[in-house]
Amino acid sequence: MTGEDESRPDLDAAYAVESPDDNRKLYARWADTYESDFIAGSDYVYHHQVAAIFVDGFADLGSPVLDVGCGTGIVGEQLRALGVEIIDGIDISPEMLAVARAKVGGSDPVQVPVYRNLIEADLTGQIGIDSNRYAGVVSAGTFTHGHLGPDALGELLRVGRPGARYAIGINAAHFEEHGFAERFDRYEADGTIGHYRIVDTIIYGGADEDDLDQVARVAVFDLTGG
Ligand SMILES: C[S@@+](CC[C@H](N)C(=O)[O-])C[C@H]1O[C@@H](n2cnc3c(N)ncnc32)[C@H](O)[C@@H]1O
Repeated sequence: MTGEDESRPDLDAAYAVESPDDNRKLYARWADTYESDFIAGSDYVYHHQVAAIFVDGFADLGSPVLDVGCGTGIVGEQLRALGVEIIDGIDISPEMLAVARAKVGGSDPVQVPVYRNLIEADLTGQIGIDSNRYAGVVSAGTFTHGHLGPDALGELLRVGRPGARYAIGINAAHFEEHGFAERFDRYEADGTIGHYRIVDTIIYGGADEDDLDQVARVAVFDLTGG
C-alpha cells in the first residue's frame, strides 16, 4: 500500500497493507465503520469462534487475559460474556483502541468496562509489558496478510505465565504461506509449549471452507515452564 488512500476501507485494503505504518493508517480510517460496515456486513463470526475455543477448558477466569490486536474490542466483549473477568487489549491503532475503550459488558444492571487496560504497541517489535503477566493470550483477525507473522509470537510467549492458555487465530492461507506450522512444531519440540493442537474454524457465517481466506487455524496450547 502506497500513498494516501482515500477509498472506503475494506477487506481488500486490509490484505494489501505491508507494514506497521500501513496498518496504523488503514485502521485510523476504518475504526468508526469497522463494526457497522465490515463486521455486520460480512457476517463475521471469528470473534465468537476464537473466544469459545479459548475458554473451552480454561479454568482461570479471574486471572488476566491479553487480547492481541484487540481492535474495536469485539473479542473482549465475547470473552467477558463467557466469564473472563480481567481483559487487557493491545493494538497498534489508537483509533481502534478508542472504540474498544467505550465498550462495556458484564451482567445487567452492573456494566463495567470490557477492558482493564488498553495498550498501544506495535506487535512486530518488543512490547512494553512485563514478562509472566497473563494467564491467557487470545487473538482473532490479527495474524493475517500484511499484519502479523510468526515472529510476533516470541513476545506473546514472553508475557504469558507458566501454564498460560493460548488461542491464536491465524488466517489459514497466511498460516500456510509463512511457516506457522514449523514455528509451532519447533516451540513444542523445544518444550516451550505443550498440549498444542490446531482447531480449524470459519471466519464468516456461510464461509466456503475450501477457501483458505475464509477459514482460520486456531493454535491452542499451554505455555510450559515455571
Ligand atoms: C482485522 S483487525 C482485528 C481486530 C479484532 N481482533 C477483531 O477480531 O475484530 C486487525 C487489528 O490488528 C491491528 N494491528 C495490525 N498490525 C498491528 C501491529 N503491528 N501491532 C499491533 N496491532 C496491529 C490493527 O490495528 C487492527 O485493530
